[in-house]
Amino acid sequence: MKKELVVVIDFGGQYNQLVARRVRECNVYCEIYSYKVDLEKIKAMNPKGIILTGGPDSCYREGAATCDPALFELGIPVLGLCYGAQLMNHVLGGQVKRATVREYGKAELKVNTSSPLFEGVPEESVCWMSHFDYIARIAPGFEIVATTKDCPVAADQCVEKKLYGIQFHPEVLHTQYGAKMLYNFVRNICGCKGDWRMDAFVEEQVKAIREKVGTGKVLCALSGGVDSSVAAVLLSKAIGNQLTCVFVDHGLLRKNEGDEVEAIFGSEGNYELNFIRVNAQQRFYVKLAGASEPETKRKIIGEEFIRVFEEEAKKIGAVDFLVQGTIYPDIVESGLGGESAVIKSHHNVGGLPDCVEFKEIIEPLRDLFKDEVRQVGLELGIPETLVFRQPFPGPGLGVRIVGEVTEEKVRIVQEADAIYREEIANAGLERSINQYFAALTNMRSVGVMGDERTYDYAVALRAVNTIDFMTAEASEIPWPVLRKVTSRIINEVGHVNRVLYDITSKPPGTIELE
Ligand code: XMP
Repeated sequence: MKKELVVVIDFGGQYNQLVARRVRECNVYCEIYSYKVDLEKIKAMNPKGIILTGGPDSCYREGAATCDPALFELGIPVLGLCYGAQLMNHVLGGQVKRATVREYGKAELKVNTSSPLFEGVPEESVCWMSHFDYIARIAPGFEIVATTKDCPVAADQCVEKKLYGIQFHPEVLHTQYGAKMLYNFVRNICGCKGDWRMDAFVEEQVKAIREKVGTGKVLCALSGGVDSSVAAVLLSKAIGNQLTCVFVDHGLLRKNEGDEVEAIFGSEGNYELNFIRVNAQQRFYVKLAGASEPETKRKIIGEEFIRVFEEEAKKIGAVDFLVQGTIYPDIVESGLGGESAVIKSHHNVGGLPDCVEFKEIIEPLRDLFKDEVRQVGLELGIPETLVFRQPFPGPGLGVRIVGEVTEEKVRIVQEADAIYREEIANAGLERSINQYFAALTNMRSVGVMGDERTYDYAVALRAVNTIDFMTAEASEIPWPVLRKVTSRIINEVGHVNRVLYDITSKPPGTIELE
């Protein structure tokens, strides 16, 4: 299944996955690599085009993130974005300087419409800027093809060498014609025909999985989340009865979630998954007793999960293949960039395999972004409620209960969260908030109910809007909705006498409280 490829070279900017998403929206497959990638490796991949992303560095700094100058001599079209544009000009003999003020936000853009980058883009439109440094002098052989009031070089090009630089961010929606500019680059300048299509994906994968698996036995850890569900159903479509799915209920799921997952995927559901539910709730509560530090709790939950899974796998006997619902952002975030600090140990990439005897791993979704996985889910006929489910962390409510986890606290947060979700749905806000949930703080405070003094827990409500879950803004939930949720939680959930609404953005906060 050889496809046209565009390589995105990552300089650590916050929108980099978005760049790759936009390229895929042009029906062109692309992959992200760290700027440290070897030039020979890039050559061997034979890409149709290369995009250098933005990043936090200053290209004139000693030891700054850079690339091999020979990259610009390959004859492959290169598009530099923000830092990428500065770097290209810097490496090729132009000059980049620090501006006196950071240019941030929307700017009026004027483009030269005869540039291949701006075909079909009006002369004047709005773009999104975010930079300190600017291109003070373009590299020899280049010409300026766009400007803004504060930015003398908003875009430049050397058509002969197929090199293009854009100082602003075409990948973000605030740049009115950004998608068109990226389309012009990948489809017109790079000449890609657009052979990356989701409808063909299911068919291709089913065929590939059948060939790979033959008559082998396959095991899948199913969590009920979007990724593992789509992976399981895809496998089931390909190999039917050869697949067994194990669902571990760790007692840290949302209210009724275990039963809901079982209803969809169990023997009463529509899929042939050989579904096994393991009710391991008590095992997890026992292991978690006394643990209050977030990373410790994550480790305990992760380890116990593997142990339970291993025991089930042993009952099934040796399997030939293990399925994982790894998706592309997991792969990018778990090391290809290699620069970022571990804030929370989220990812299970490579976590499970050691514990089970098997020959090979199958990761059918490893090339896909989340919304592509969702598209595949719909193609497979998985219910929309599951396909558009908001993300739920692997350690579940374990990281939504600040401090020590107890069965009683799990019940409190489950009840509060169920009320919150119900009211968000009643208000029709489900699709306009990317992630929302109730968490249990470790704070108890004094209240009064009836004529009685209470000394009970505070529940925190969280709701965020985010594109990539790396940054997020608190959502503005209408006051009447918050008031109703608060009053219902206090009235209906025992041992809660206070509800708080968390309006912290990320950064400096994170989405989960732990
Ligand atoms: P944070 O809290 O880091 O969350 O801003 C970003 C996204 O990741 C989810 N998350 C996790 N997912 N295991 C997971 O599988 C974890 O330990 C974990 N912690 C956070 C979180 O729900 C949000 O979508």
